[in-house]
Amino acid sequence: MTVSDNELYILGIESSCDETAAAVVSGDKRILSNVIYSQINEHKQFNGVVPEIAARSHLEKIDLVVQKALDDAGIEISDLDAVAGTCGPGLIGGVIVGATFAKGISLAADIPFIAVNHIEAHALTVRLTEDNVEFPYLLLLASGGHCQICIVYSTDNFEVIGRTLDDSVGESFDKVAKMLDLGYPGGPRVEKWAENGDDQRFEFPHPLCNKNSMDFSFSGLKTAVRILAERIFSDNNTNQDQAKSDICAGFQQTVAEILAYKMNLAFEYCKKKQIIPNAAVIAGGVAANKRIRNSLQLLCDKYKTRFAVPPIPLCTDNGAMIAWMGIEKFRKMQFTTLDFQPRPRWPLGL
Ligand code: KG4
Ligand code: ZN
Repeated sequence: MTVSDNELYILGIESSCDETAAAVVSGDKRILSNVIYSQINEHKQFNGVVPEIAARSHLEKIDLVVQKALDDAGIEISDLDAVAGTCGPGLIGGVIVGATFAKGISLAADIPFIAVNHIEAHALTVRLTEDNVEFPYLLLLASGGHCQICIVYSTDNFEVIGRTLDDSVGESFDKVAKMLDLGYPGGPRVEKWAENGDDQRFEFPHPLCNKNSMDFSFSGLKTAVRILAERIFSDNNTNQDQAKSDICAGFQQTVAEILAYKMNLAFEYCKKKQIIPNAAVIAGGVAANKRIRNSLQLLCDKYKTRFAVPPIPLCTDNGAMIAWMGIEKFRKMQFTTLDFQPRPRWPLGL
């Protein structure tokens, strides 16, 4: 099947966490539509994503979101060349909703179905949004569900060189926000509060940063925040808002330092293995954080390597990244049979 890039249209469907999303993307990198329904208001009162509520909400919204994505793109189902759906990893109830809907479209329109690994889609989004990001490149994937460093050798060859031993980096932002009663989702709240904070007032641990390992651990850092938060909340003589800002600033700075330390090791690993990364990329929701982006930019300057970050709305979960992964797979004729089972856990490249 040969289709020229400007005539190749793929619908991507995403439902692995708390966003119901769909988009139509063309082979020549046009995002014709990108519709996202966020469930934030449904999960807010619980300070986190409740899987059962998420699955029901995906089911309620998916047909409307997909229809809007087609309408916004001015595309009929019959114009599509394939439909790509997130099939994992993620909250399985939601994944099943999106994957089954995508399979249904594939059957109804008689077009190929492409099962997409959500993390691989985050990893490759930069090739949709930036020109000439060639393989191999270094990737820091920093989201709510994942925290890992890998070398991306191709669309289906990833070497994971560092991973978290406990929480993901986004999760640690969310938990810190919860401890400080800042609301949900935590990452943007912590960043906002940090703007008025002194990042030097409190000292925080840098777990696993005295080791030559690219693995992460955030639980010690989280405990340090919890202890500080308890102290502050029980002390009526402390300016609590200022203390919260100072904790957020110190925590955020510490995370930026940890990520830069690990990425520095990743650059050194590449050097030792004589791999020349074409770029260093950060993807996932945490890439929205300016302090973290700045510290990685400095590191890339040191290694004279291009630093590439997708635009923030495409760093967090969206349908365009799934559609793009569909395009990358379509070009390799990597279609999926309809008996493919969604996977709550799905390692990269397998
Ligand atoms: O990629 P994403 O939208 O969903 C997952 O696949 O997990 O990432 C969401 C995560 C959340 O943990 C959120 O708190 C974090 O990204 N996040 C941020 C910021 N914006 C979102 N973390 C730090 N600073 C931000 N500005
Ligand atoms: Zn994600």
